[in-house]
Amino acid sequence: MPLDSARGPGLIPVPRVAVIVVAAGSGTRLGSGAPKAFVGLDEHTILRHALRGVFAAPEAQVVIVAPAGREGDALTEALEASGDRRDLVTVATGGATRQESVRAGLHAVWADVDIVLVHDAARALTPPEVFARTIAAIADGADGAIPVLPVIDTIKRVDGAAVVGALDRSELAAAQTPQGFRRDVLDAAYQAAVDDFTDDAALVAAAGHAVAAVAGDALSFKITTPADLERARSLVQPIAPAPATLAAAQAAPRVGFGTDVHGFGGEGTLWLAGLEWPGEPALSGHSDGDAVAHAIVDALLSAAGLGDIGTHFGTDRPEYAAAHAEAFLARTLALIGEAGWRVGNVAVQVQANRPRFAARRAEAEAALSAALGGASVSVSATTTDGLGFTGTGEGVAAFAVALLVPA
Ligand code: CTP
Ligand code: MG
Repeated sequence: MPLDSARGPGLIPVPRVAVIVVAAGSGTRLGSGAPKAFVGLDEHTILRHALRGVFAAPEAQVVIVAPAGREGDALTEALEASGDRRDLVTVATGGATRQESVRAGLHAVWADVDIVLVHDAARALTPPEVFARTIAAIADGADGAIPVLPVIDTIKRVDGAAVVGALDRSELAAAQTPQGFRRDVLDAAYQAAVDDFTDDAALVAAAGHAVAAVAGDALSFKITTPADLERARSLVQPIAPAPATLAAAQAAPRVGFGTDVHGFGGEGTLWLAGLEWPGEPALSGHSDGDAVAHAIVDALLSAAGLGDIGTHFGTDRPEYAAAHAEAFLARTLALIGEAGWRVGNVAVQVQANRPRFAARRAEAEAALSAALGGASVSVSATTTDGLGFTGTGEGVAAFAVALLVPA
């Protein structure tokens, strides 16, 4: 199987390999309060260190499976780790078990990919060579391949406190990740799987496929307990300056586009373009329904390549349930700042019969600009000649463009 990049329908090179990094576990045995992937090794998290190895390995689509509600944080870390491979990053939401998380990751693998590696984020120090060895075994014809380490200790079979026998150590090996498979084999095995398996190799073997062993690495140990975390902290190599920030610093400006629609029918008074409009009917929505602010958030995030409003402000974030424009825009400004950008300018147009913007346009521009750290924001408004849902007065629509420049 050739390993060079295939050509996708749009003539964009598509890597033949995907790495699913499962990072959605809660880390019960580590017991540090945060999901394990977001626990720090030094000033960077376990996930960030794991991604360093992944992005130093042969080029692949990288699917990070994050805990529900932490997709935005995972995306931020991935973009920072990805350097010039940011277009290869995908984030998926994990499930209740590791197997469900892998399944969610598999759904996000691009159509052209034909080798899939599954890797535990908790094996944060895995060297890139292990990925290369695993990919090579599949490219050479294996259905599946996993890195293993010889077992050093003599292993006994015990029954309570009694030793009841020994096992032949030469027949045993400790399994690690990344575990690699032909994509069609892994897809079919996951479709067929009803039981819960401890790893992907066991699931694929149960589907009747042979799995090859390649050399693992002592650094690929899984951070499971507090003692493992201490060991990883003593071994970790510092991460050099964030490549995404450097990339942004050298990059040209970027534009982004965002739209939003909300219907009338919310509680209380109207909030739109960062202003309260006493006497006007409220819009409905998870937050205050401020379509103008939400369109600007999407425009800014899209310009920075940071996903969209749902990635960072999903309905599972209760702190944004009643939030106004200021909170959304301040958080968005922080996100794009961390990625190495500042706002050049924003232009937004609102389509609505009501409210009448002309009298308060300057006030709206000032409020939105203040929320964006003083960046230039222009607001325009139009009606649609009685046509469409904005014309009949059912709701409002907003359209925004944003320009970002390197910070
Ligand atoms: N994992 C996952 N989704 C789950 C459970 C685990 O993506 N529902 C991932 C973890 O994030 C980890 C890898 O699978 O990178 C190996 O799992 P494990 O070491 O058991 O991590 P946790 O499940 O987080 O830890 P614990 O079992 O102690 O809760
Ligand atoms: Mg677990």
